Amino acid sequence: MIKKISVDELAPGMEVVQLSADVWQQLPYLYTKPGIIKDEAEVRRIRAKGFLQAFIRLAPAPENARLSDEERLEKLLRTREEHLKRKPRAPFVKTIEKARKAYAKALDQTKRIITDVKMGRQVDYRSSAEALDGVIESAIQNADTIVCLSKLSRYDSYTYSHSINVAAIAVVFGEYVGLSREELTTLGVAGMLHDLGKTAISNRIINKRGRLTRSEFEEIKKHPVYGLNILKKAREMPPAVLRAVEEHHEKFNGSGYPHGLSKDDISVFGRILSMADVYDALTSDRSYKNAILPNKALAIMYGMRDQDFSAREVQLFIKCLGIFPSGSLVRLSTGNYGVVFESNPEKPLLPKIKVILDEDLSPIPAKLVDLAVPDNGSALKIVDCADPAQYQINLRPYFHSREERPPLEGMD
Ligand SMILES: [Fe+2]
Repeated sequence: MIKKISVDELAPGMEVVQLSADVWQQLPYLYTKPGIIKDEAEVRRIRAKGFLQAFIRLAPAPENARLSDEERLEKLLRTREEHLKRKPRAPFVKTIEKARKAYAKALDQTKRIITDVKMGRQVDYRSSAEALDGVIESAIQNADTIVCLSKLSRYDSYTYSHSINVAAIAVVFGEYVGLSREELTTLGVAGMLHDLGKTAISNRIINKRGRLTRSEFEEIKKHPVYGLNILKKAREMPPAVLRAVEEHHEKFNGSGYPHGLSKDDISVFGRILSMADVYDALTSDRSYKNAILPNKALAIMYGMRDQDFSAREVQLFIKCLGIFPSGSLVRLSTGNYGVVFESNPEKPLLPKIKVILDEDLSPIPAKLVDLAVPDNGSALKIVDCADPAQYQINLRPYFHSREERPPLEGMD
């Protein structure tokens, strides 16, 4: 961008540009010698010669400063996709055990924090962030471990497991779109504490199994603001956490609560939490409903594009988790069943799987197969997702450490 300035404003480092001769002839007091002003002495010489004005080229504004949240996300993603293609991913089997310990620690800490709030104690950002450290580290090393654990870890209470799962899924997505380590921590803490406001609502309403009355639902709709009020009193809580917690039920089309915000008026963290919240709620067992399979849940969320979520962002969310997220039970073209170990970001239909059951659902020696490698997979394809609960199959042992897991083949 070119701007005309007074020579009084001229300073070393500025680039003077020469416009057409017509302009110069009309403005004899205009300094037109093109080039970078070297030093103050040059500025003084220009002024001494009686020039009054000059055209200079303004340095481009820092690119991110001009971008909306949406554009910033787009930009991050373009560079991110390139980065992900080159980024080495730590092997799943080498990282799952560390991830499992990190997950268990984060679950325990979440329980402690929520219990503390119920007892009237204050939340502390630092200890919340520290509780998530290992989960974030695992998400960076191999996000599949965290996606898998968020589906396979069970805890005694939906409140605690949901809180940590939302944090984990949000962090996985945040890592996918290229957020910094510090931003991942802030986002993770927001996920961990997103429903804290429910502690201010009577258990009778929170645990009610039947349909809520209108006034009960109105009370539930206040939990983002209750959460905000609790967190305002917390030490060193970043404003981005407060905002994300307040906005996690806002919707893209403005039909959410508590404020009916829409599109870019909802913060990026608020929008990410909203997707992670819905995904975990759909894929979790509750007293009143069975879990929906991950691929079906993602299809439902895609159907909510332009209403609950930005179409672009929910597509990215699906791309991030993969069509067959890690931890899914799948039926194969041979009739056998397998569990998805590692997603394949380049070829989402061809993840690494472990074949574990024959067509009659009888266990067979587990074998790791990379569907993307023709020699290994030959014509092997995934036909559909299957519901482990329906067949009473416990997938967790297949993701345990070497000492604990059943004898397996092809793990190294
Ligand atoms: Fe909520």
